Amino acid sequence: MDKKSLLSDLIHDYEKNHQKSKSIFEKSTEYQIRGGSHNLRLFAPFPFYDVRCSGSKVTDADGNTYVDFWQGHFANILGHNPKIVLDALSDWFQKGQGLTTGFPGNYQRELAELILKRIGADKIRFTTSGTLATMYSIMMARAFTKRDLVVKAGGGWHGAQPYVLKGITAYDHGLTKIESAGLPFGIDAQIVVTKFSEINDLEEKFRENGDRIACFILEPFIGAGGFIFAQREYIQRARELTLKYNSLLIIDEVISGFRFHAGGVQNLYGVKPDLSIFGKAIGGGMPLSAVLGRDDVMALCDPEAKPEEKVKFDGGTFSAHPGSVLAGLTYLKYLIENEEEIYPKIGRLADKVRKGIDEIFAAHGFNVKCTGYGDTIAENSSCVGVQFLKEDIDRVRSPEQVWNPEVCDFELREQIFKLSMLKEGFNVFHGYGGISAAHTDEEIQASLDAVERIAKEWNKYKK
Ligand SMILES: Cc1ncc(COP(=O)(O)O)c(C=O)c1O
Repeated sequence: MDKKSLLSDLIHDYEKNHQKSKSIFEKSTEYQIRGGSHNLRLFAPFPFYDVRCSGSKVTDADGNTYVDFWQGHFANILGHNPKIVLDALSDWFQKGQGLTTGFPGNYQRELAELILKRIGADKIRFTTSGTLATMYSIMMARAFTKRDLVVKAGGGWHGAQPYVLKGITAYDHGLTKIESAGLPFGIDAQIVVTKFSEINDLEEKFRENGDRIACFILEPFIGAGGFIFAQREYIQRARELTLKYNSLLIIDEVISGFRFHAGGVQNLYGVKPDLSIFGKAIGGGMPLSAVLGRDDVMALCDPEAKPEEKVKFDGGTFSAHPGSVLAGLTYLKYLIENEEEIYPKIGRLADKVRKGIDEIFAAHGFNVKCTGYGDTIAENSSCVGVQFLKEDIDRVRSPEQVWNPEVCDFELREQIFKLSMLKEGFNVFHGYGGISAAHTDEEIQASLDAVERIAKEWNKYKK
């Protein structure tokens, strides 16, 4: 396929229909690096700048409206700006409350209880971002075990904090490299990368380093690594190995938490980690994250912990921000009360998309396979990844395949397919994204019709 001409035609169309966004972008770059604050939002040639987001849709400065499957980094399970949260916050703001106060607030206890009972853990502490929460959890694991090594899976993204910036997306015969400058000296040697969902590799890493491993941190449903569920036996083995070697198992549920049912993915696997991390959905659209887990580990952030064991997970001007706590509480209660309607619906729609995209591209002679299939783990998987393959494989099963440029075509996914879908009125990410309860059957069908037209159009560029 003549990808160069196709991309150049798509960019030409995109620029024509996004003149105001282009001008905002150009002005923004005078003040901000690449015109914004989060690289994933700043796709090439320039992002569209939103002026209104509601339910399934986003409207930009040029008046273009898209059905959005990015949905706030997959946090928005109920779509953009759900009325229940807006009402709760507006009511509070009307009463002159909701901004930060520096006091614990009367909703925090209720949210803590709700999450702990739902997940099945002893104690919880809130903070503001998934990144901070993974960092604190690792500090606690290192303090608790008095060990230094952190094991993580290749392709795992746990935020930009020093203990996990290795083996994420940079493929070099595997995913094993440090991916940021400016990290503490010697950190490379303290992070051991293992292959996602490969039992043998995990066993080997524990055999080699077991008595030095503080924790194994894992997304059982790997997000940036390709929307892939780990095998059930792998998670069970991870639990056995961490117990055997007295290391801690940390399950990162920042994406998976409340995404596949009104609880954690750990509950679907039937595995109880020592610590877990929640973020995204638990804030109901506001910044909130949490570390939860075993009493004895969480106790390390108690001000009365022994000074030599105490972990400085004890600050944050905006930790458990009252507005975030109220939004999160409102949101999670709604998800729990409406679990039976929400999750089967979004899972069914995502299934239709995965099967539809696989079939459409195959019918037009393209080697494309969706990821996100829940198989026997999550009956209602609402995430859809689309992988454009250079190799003939039946299913993409590992982040190494996703990030190996000889296996998956990243440019085709993140530039050409992205711009093709935008031209059709759909904003996608990782190839497609996360279905929300605000999406309708009609929008899902329309997105598949769009994929059909795109596949036909691409065929015109075949050499
Ligand atoms: C699995 C996972 N962990 C941690 C993070 C970091 O969370 P945050 O972006 O809230 O800092 C992310 C963010 O996308 C994530 O997907």
